[in-house]
Amino acid sequence: MLLQGKRALVTGAAMGIGRGIAMAMAAEGAAVLVCDLEDEAGARTVADIEAAGGRAAYCRLDVTQPEAHAHAVAEAQRLFGGLDVTCNNAGISGEFLRTAEQTTANWQKVIDINLSGVFYGVRAQIPALLQAGGGSIINISSILGQVGLEELSPYTAAKHGVVGLTRTVALEYGRQGIRCNAVGPAFIKTRLLDNVPEEARQHLAELHALGRLGEVKEVADHVCWLASDRAGFITGNYHAVDGGYLSR
Ligand code: NAI
Repeated sequence: MLLQGKRALVTGAAMGIGRGIAMAMAAEGAAVLVCDLEDEAGARTVADIEAAGGRAAYCRLDVTQPEAHAHAVAEAQRLFGGLDVTCNNAGISGEFLRTAEQTTANWQKVIDINLSGVFYGVRAQIPALLQAGGGSIINISSILGQVGLEELSPYTAAKHGVVGLTRTVALEYGRQGIRCNAVGPAFIKTRLLDNVPEEARQHLAELHALGRLGEVKEVADHVCWLASDRAGFITGNYHAVDGGYLSR
């Protein structure tokens, strides 16, 4: 197992990609702190991990609250004896509007969750990873951390920001054993796409070289590998898990 003996924390782990990452990490042997603000769904992720024979606990965490990250890190240390792996995944798309029509409220909300939320997380997690002798941070960006998309400028700005933050943390803490990478999924089958009509889903699928949407498991498997010692010389990078979307 890739993550035997590792202690991990995943934000936004109640649903979607974060849930998949938490489940995959646990299946690879990690003890996982499932963090989210949806308590019931978070508890379900924990129950499903335990039912599959893994180890997990739930911690309420709103990523926009700096002190909540400190609490989550302390919980991981208290419950698991330390922290080796973190995945800052929580994110929202925000409203689809062209830039001149974007509201200040939507801009601030998307930046708060998708960019400041990752910064607060990383800032709180670094001391714990140093205490453990090093570790691996994976920040979930997007293909929109590399290219733009009409009507989604706050999201695109935040996801580009996550990549810059990731590279800087890698430079700052690499010599102390912390690796920090960003993962950029393309369109993945989560609830974000549930309400998209079939014709539009087909159009989205065609944007990928593989001609299909991605599966949560395909993102989660890559995150697990980056978290593991197998990726020991890999840091400061943007990793597309995009079915060839960015090749266009
Ligand atoms: P989702 O909506 O299925 O799940 C997001 C999770 O984050 C939920 O459990 C939600 O409760 C939680 N969350 C939202 N706001 C939070 C907050 N303030 N504090 C703590 N938790 C919060 O979304 P999905 O698709 O799983 O997205 C996960 C990440 O992957 C996001 O960062 C998203 O931008 C990114 N992503 C998703 C893609 C997709 O096609 N689904 C494509 C590229 C990136």
